[in-house]
Amino acid sequence: MAGTASAVAPESYISKIWPQGIFENRVVFCTGGSGDICSSQVRALVYLGANACIVGRNEGKAERVAASIAKARPDAKVLGIGNIDVRKVESLEAAVSKCVSTLGGIDFVIAGAAGNFLVPLINLSTNAFKSVIDIDLMGSWNTAKAVMPYLLNSAAKYPGAGGRILFISATLHYTGGPLNTHGVVAKAGVDALSAQLAIELGPRGITSNVIAPGVVDGTEGERRLFQDARGEMMGKVPTGRLGTVKDVNNATVYLLSETGDFVNGSVQVVDGAAWRIGAQVGAGAEYPASVLVERKATKL
Ligand code: COA
Repeated sequence: MAGTASAVAPESYISKIWPQGIFENRVVFCTGGSGDICSSQVRALVYLGANACIVGRNEGKAERVAASIAKARPDAKVLGIGNIDVRKVESLEAAVSKCVSTLGGIDFVIAGAAGNFLVPLINLSTNAFKSVIDIDLMGSWNTAKAVMPYLLNSAAKYPGAGGRILFISATLHYTGGPLNTHGVVAKAGVDALSAQLAIELGPRGITSNVIAPGVVDGTEGERRLFQDARGEMMGKVPTGRLGTVKDVNNATVYLLSETGDFVNGSVQVVDGAAWRIGAQVGAGAEYPASVLVERKATKL
């Protein structure tokens, strides 16, 4: 679905130091690809030469975002596949097959699909906990499993320059924090999963790494999880500002290009050192009031 809007200005999402064409003939497959962070990562890779397939739950949105990303480079091919829920293995496998049959393979994967909300643990239902584990952790596993044969092919075809998977995680589980038990547990699992892939698939030429963004300005995550505490967060980040999609994209290119060849099993934190002083999800809440709000009602 072609839109009429013009291409997003490259300087807003990628630094000039990366030469265009470095990802020529490469294909990136991305879950959560309609989201603010992942769509921007893919846009940067497409600008630098890759073709791409983004998948998401919302059909119209996936197509619209793909059409927008395709404007990043004149001859770019970008597929947008909607109705894909990373919790449903079959739908994910179908999307992977369509990507491979249309674009010729998969060289890079960004496992970015995630769901989140803030709620005191005492009010967190088992189904709510399971939902986030299923989307973030099981969804990451389902993605890795579905793309694995193609990543192995890519690693064999482009030694040192193909077969790479990147998980989008977070920093909240380094310390833990109020209101996000489901997210903390899920992201800890995602980091562990990435490390396991690095260990077991490293000998086959695959690299697996994590990007852990902090608060990224102008994204859904920032709006949903941090809006009330935005000013406070900004003041706390040691680097003195919120993150940008460009910050995350530069780290992505570093990890997926030749520069990341020997970087495997790592976690690249892109947060201006915010987590080190506790400027994370829930940090703006009035702890412990936020988590004790139901104390009387539940007779702990
Ligand atoms: N607070 C507490 N519980 C919540 C909740 C919230 N804000 N949002 C969802 N839940 C609970 C539901 O009540 C339900 O539990 P229950 O059956 O015990 O009532 C459970 O989570 C599943 O909810 P459901 O509506 O079926 O959601 P889902 O499984 O289809 O999707 C999310 C869950 C997280 C993806 C959904 O909240 C969502 O679409 N979020 C917006 C997208 C998003 O999170 N993007 C990431 C931005 S950081």
